Amino acid sequence: MTVNPISLKQLPPDLDRDRLPQHVAVIMDGNGRWAKQKGRPRILGHQKGVDTLKDLLRCCRDWGVPALTAYAFSTENWGRPLEEVEFLMTLFERVLRRELQEMMEENVRIRFVGNLVALPDSLQQEIARSMTDTQNNSGIQFTVATNYGGRQEIVQACRAIASKVEQGYLRVEDIDEAIFEQHLYTQGLVNPDLIIRTSGEMRISNFLLWQIAYAEIYVTETLWPDFDRLEFHKALTAYQKRDRRFGKVNNK
Ligand code: FPP
Repeated sequence: MTVNPISLKQLPPDLDRDRLPQHVAVIMDGNGRWAKQKGRPRILGHQKGVDTLKDLLRCCRDWGVPALTAYAFSTENWGRPLEEVEFLMTLFERVLRRELQEMMEENVRIRFVGNLVALPDSLQQEIARSMTDTQNNSGIQFTVATNYGGRQEIVQACRAIASKVEQGYLRVEDIDEAIFEQHLYTQGLVNPDLIIRTSGEMRISNFLLWQIAYAEIYVTETLWPDFDRLEFHKALTAYQKRDRRFGKVNNK
């Protein structure tokens, strides 16, 4: 179906409102390549990537997807050139400071997940402020994975649980999946139904390893800065065609 971009303010009529993912997670890949294709510095791709993320967040709200999680910085990203890492840290901080007022007006609830204590102090302060200020908002749940690694998250959960066992607050035989989930950074969030990766790579890259056990994976060649509402529409169309069995057989 051809969709008129102007009509994309609202949920396109060919999508089924009752079968929308309740949580979409995105691996925003391809910023550097996008900039390189234009003969511009990589950081320009990250800047444009912020605009793309902002519009996707609005789009989720407009179309009725209640939760969006974005992979902004992985535990492995520290291995990038120092100038790029510093640029990204400053960018996160600037964006947070600049957008907080608007997020309040738009009723967004923001949350950061990851090993946040390793981030620059000034960024940690902005993160704390944004989470506190928006915690009672009732609109879209926006989660930003920053200095996040799925394995690291699982290890820290194991440590937290082991420590409770050691102190006698928890018995080994009581540890189950529900208890485990309560010790993940994403505690309280529904698991993603759909994970989108841009720029064509067929990898999960240590993102939400536990949480995406039954998520549908959608990979597009489109580079992140070009991932607009038309692209999101394509992703949701593909998602709605999937037969989600969660390991069971379909009775149809
Ligand atoms: C991957 O592209 C992108 C990143 C590592 C950074 C993404 C961050 C943002 C878009 C900013 C988000 C900001 C906030 C405050 C939530 P890449 O550099 O790996 O691209 P490449 O694979 O083409 O080199």
